[in-house]
Amino acid sequence: MPDSFEAFIDDLQREIDEETRRIYSQEVFRRWKHPTHVGRMADAEACSRVRGSCGDTMEIYLRIRGNTIERASAFTDGCGCSMVCGSVVAEMAEGKTLEEAMDLRGDEVVEALHGLPDEDVHCAFLAADALREALHRYLQGIRERGVKGQIPTQQRGHHT
Ligand code: FES
Repeated sequence: MPDSFEAFIDDLQREIDEETRRIYSQEVFRRWKHPTHVGRMADAEACSRVRGSCGDTMEIYLRIRGNTIERASAFTDGCGCSMVCGSVVAEMAEGKTLEEAMDLRGDEVVEALHGLPDEDVHCAFLAADALREALHRYLQGIRERGVKGQIPTQQRGHHT
């Protein structure tokens, strides 16, 4: 039994780390410990909030220069895996043209993470859906004279 609260927390964290390593790839573990591209972006020009069939929401924020995504970030109220998937989607979106980003698929996210357990694959598809939704809203805003608008939550029953 650990003799201090700090030791107890350390033990707990070690157990969580071991469990995460057992279930997920090394790449998921690495990104989970050192997440990038995570958080809401105050000066985003495009954003989305999509709710997955699991009930979690994923938000994607984009800064766009010309036809290219300059910066991207993700925010989720979901599991650690969805945070990792959102961060991968944001990282992969950066530097892509809007058309290229629109083509980013959930299975590419799974591949970038060297695989996911079956029950977590939907997190990757939710993140890719959220990116497409942000792009869709951005393009729609341009069509409607550059109006950014609020962030409605889209409900997704299933992902493709
Ligand atoms: Fe819902 Fe991960 S369990 S997004």
